[in-house]
Amino acid sequence: MKKISISMAKGGVGKTSTAVNLSAALARSGKRVLLLDCDPQQGNATLFLGHNPNGLKVTVANVINALLDLGVTDYIKEAIIRQSENLDLLPANPKLEAIQNRLIAEKSNIGLFGEETEIQPHEVMKTILAEVEDNYDYAILDCPPSISMLSINALVAADSVLLPVEAHYECYEALVQTLDVIRKIKANWNPSLEIEGILLTKYQSRTRLCREIREYTQKNFASKIRVFDDTVPSSIRVAELSGMGVSIFEHSPDSEAALAFEKLAEEVAQNA
Ligand SMILES: Nc1ncnc2c1ncn2[C@@H]1O[C@H](COP(=O)(O)OP(=O)(O)OP(=O)(O)O)[C@@H](O)[C@H]1O
Ligand SMILES: [Mg+2]
Repeated sequence: MKKISISMAKGGVGKTSTAVNLSAALARSGKRVLLLDCDPQQGNATLFLGHNPNGLKVTVANVINALLDLGVTDYIKEAIIRQSENLDLLPANPKLEAIQNRLIAEKSNIGLFGEETEIQPHEVMKTILAEVEDNYDYAILDCPPSISMLSINALVAADSVLLPVEAHYECYEALVQTLDVIRKIKANWNPSLEIEGILLTKYQSRTRLCREIREYTQKNFASKIRVFDDTVPSSIRVAELSGMGVSIFEHSPDSEAALAFEKLAEEVAQNA
């Protein structure tokens, strides 16, 4: 199971849209995919896929609590929702915020974990995902925008990280900041973490600004990091998706955006 974290230390850049539609595209190509929602906030992947997060009884929060309290990981199977053929969701809701606070508390006093489990607070996602390692070809992790115990957990669990960048200069500060976090995670906790690539989102190919940004990204980053050939177009079809419970492939299969996510999945699959 290849684990890809969709990370960027900035809100609203298209992380969840990318996580949901990349997952759907990989599933359509025959890969078994688990979409792991790591975001407690409104507008997370759980909501995108049509679930009322507050109405869910078992979510990733319960799975992490079971790990911390009992040292077990098999609870993950109860939390997973079958979304469509080849696509499962491990949902999240606001209770994950409390887990985050618990992880911070555990981090400052490691003894709270107890002798039995010996789970490090930054390794809980990695530990629960190991339980389903053989069940999927990909796990896609939808991260919150902040640099937090949850996004750090996702980067520790991941094999690679995909960086959605909204085609706007103000997003580059967040990109540099995120790359710095990745460097530190790699140095300390996850030496094999790779960068899958930079994905330009909400891209308007007709505007000069977007073309300039693409050139800027190539010039400044492409020598070290793959910049995906494909961009996700700024599209009302994508904007309409949040909360509809379907991916772009059910909503607008013939759209430019559907084609973009299909090509992104191909590029990602080539780097297996
Ligand atoms: N390609 C696109 N074209 C038009 N609108 C988009 C596109 N991608 C995302 N959006 C819209 O922008 C908003 C933010 O997108 P999304 O939720 O995917 O970003 P995010 O990075 O996950 O945000 P957050 O940091 O809040 O989790 C949403 O309203 C979404 O519908
Ligand atoms: Mg999001």
